[in-house]
Amino acid sequence: MLKLNDHLTNQFIAPHERKQMECQLLAARDLLDGRTCPGSEYTGWLDLPVSLPEETIACIEETADRIRRDFDVLIVVGIGGSYLGARAVIEALSHHFSLSLPKERRGGPLVLFAGHQISSDYLHDLLEVVEGKRVALNVISKSGTTTEPAIAFRILRDRLFRHASREELAKHIVITTDEKRGALRRYAEQMGLTTYVIPDDIGGRYSVLTPVGLLPIAVAGIDIRALLDGARSERKRSKTPLSEGLSAVDCYAVNRILLMRKGYQAEILACYEPSMRYFAEWWKQLFGESEGKDGKGVITMSVDLTTDLHSLGQLIQEGPRVFFETVIDFANVRHDIAIPSDLADLDQLEYLAGQPMSFVNRQASRGTALAHVSGGVPNIRIELEDRSPESLGALIYFFERACALSCIMNGVNPFNQPGVEAYKRNMFALLGKPGYEKVREELLRSSAEDKD
Ligand code: PA5
Repeated sequence: MLKLNDHLTNQFIAPHERKQMECQLLAARDLLDGRTCPGSEYTGWLDLPVSLPEETIACIEETADRIRRDFDVLIVVGIGGSYLGARAVIEALSHHFSLSLPKERRGGPLVLFAGHQISSDYLHDLLEVVEGKRVALNVISKSGTTTEPAIAFRILRDRLFRHASREELAKHIVITTDEKRGALRRYAEQMGLTTYVIPDDIGGRYSVLTPVGLLPIAVAGIDIRALLDGARSERKRSKTPLSEGLSAVDCYAVNRILLMRKGYQAEILACYEPSMRYFAEWWKQLFGESEGKDGKGVITMSVDLTTDLHSLGQLIQEGPRVFFETVIDFANVRHDIAIPSDLADLDQLEYLAGQPMSFVNRQASRGTALAHVSGGVPNIRIELEDRSPESLGALIYFFERACALSCIMNGVNPFNQPGVEAYKRNMFALLGKPGYEKVREELLRSSAEDKD
């Protein structure tokens, strides 16, 4: 079960400040659960852990089993919300060195990613790595027209399946896209491909518990039912009436809004398990893209600890006092290792002989939190039993709901991303896309480099 421990924020937030936030929180909860908040047409994720049909789950498992049986590699093609959730969960729960393990030891195909940037070197190297292997593609795009995955799909299709028959293509490619609209939907129908639907009422960054995330996660051999169970439990806990006290999600959302209003402009997500790095990337997108608009929002950053204590630790401890820290803390590790005795003690570690590494990691975490707090960095801890599908499911739902509540309390629409269009407009104009001629002229006029 997920627990929130916010006692290390007490010296930064007075009890009356929390109390006074309760009416704002209540209003935000009403707007969210009553589906009357801005962007309410995208709140389908709220009930997803209980509303996802059994047939969809079974169908995902069936396709995943087929891919696991028939292929050596699955390449997931997608970007942003159509990419980060799957990668976050797969990396968080898989063997740290999956890439180096043989298929039998890994228990399934390698899951690799493409279409999340436009680097030709990356795609070249990916093609080299999968040469001679049996490759399946899962192309994920709600709009079906996002440039990065569209380019990757076109190139991968050409390089891997140029001479494949329609029947062959149908075995190799699975499309996850909008139910009715978009280029990918049309392509899938023309070619008779297996498709999964991204529901209309769920936006990209809230879609990890739809087929967007669940299919690649299942192909990686992760129990998607357990993931959904975790999300279901957290959904239940997060909906307890306020009269019974604030839920963990409520407390987290209130803490971050209060801290933000006191000038803590940046939230650092920290974890002492390196496999959580992509989970932090997913979190950064969730909060960054949802909250960062209308000149508002908390800057989202992440650190791998203790690694980054030796790079960013100084900045956090003594740099500008604008950070607060949210630590994801797992009570149990999967495989503990005791520190061996060495009586020569040249490394001066003999006082730790016989201690498990997890004990050392835990004390590092405690000591760091106390040091950061004394340096003026408020510390929030999210405590979970273990690094399991249940815990990750709970954490996903926890952050999704906390993000929506924070945005509503902050007066922004949690579900749109109008700012993302700015780079696309310029990129299309510079690439010479029909319809962007005027923008191109303007850009070339204002750019000395392009004028030359
Ligand atoms: O969260 C979002 O909505 C975005 O990050 C999208 O997921 C991302 O831009 C990809 O869009 P699409 O799935 O349409 O290719």
